[in-house]
Amino acid sequence: MKRLLLMSGSIACAKATQLISTWVKQGDEVRVVCTPGTLNFVGEATLEGLSQNPVMTSVYESGAMMDHIHVSRWADQIILCPATANVINKLAAGIADDAVTTVFVAAFGLQKPLLVVPAMNTMMWQYPATQVAVNTLQDWGVTLLAPEQGDLACGEQGAGRMPEIEDILKKLEHLV
Ligand SMILES: Cc1cc2nc3c(=O)[nH]c(=O)nc-3n(C[C@H](O)[C@H](O)[C@H](O)COP(=O)(O)O)c2cc1C
Repeated sequence: MKRLLLMSGSIACAKATQLISTWVKQGDEVRVVCTPGTLNFVGEATLEGLSQNPVMTSVYESGAMMDHIHVSRWADQIILCPATANVINKLAAGIADDAVTTVFVAAFGLQKPLLVVPAMNTMMWQYPATQVAVNTLQDWGVTLLAPEQGDLACGEQGAGRMPEIEDILKKLEHLV
């Protein structure tokens, strides 16, 4: 299975790297595309080391200038995890101003299995624009794994917590 992991700048990035190691261990090929913000939470060396592939952090990388088109054609499955409030809102507005949003927008019409896994503070999750964006993406056919209630990294409690890796893997098994 060829997995394309899109990552954005959440405290849940470190947890999301477990997806990469799980997939690689089971023999999957993994490519990672991430926003610049992601690299505040997890290093490019970790993402490249775990995925055993170069990481795409910009659409303007010399020698890989059309990869924003090619990676999604290559992939069997596309997973946006963690998905920040920022990225979710941008996608619903059609904004493609970094590698993740550009790849997503360029991939959407391919109708490949595509999962969005939000992770954020409760207030960010409940922010009206975020809720509208989530509903918009779902109306367009995007599968979204709802965040869990519980203790958040910021010390608050509520909805917004990224689901456990096992639950994400389970959801992906049935993704069409
Ligand atoms: C410590 C820390 C943790 C953060 N965690 C989250 C998060 O879980 N979800 C989220 O939407 N934003 C989170 N943010 C804010 C985003 O990093 C910020 O909105 C950023 O602009 C997102 O950029 P990106 O979506 O391009 O990666 C966090 C910021 C900091 C400093």
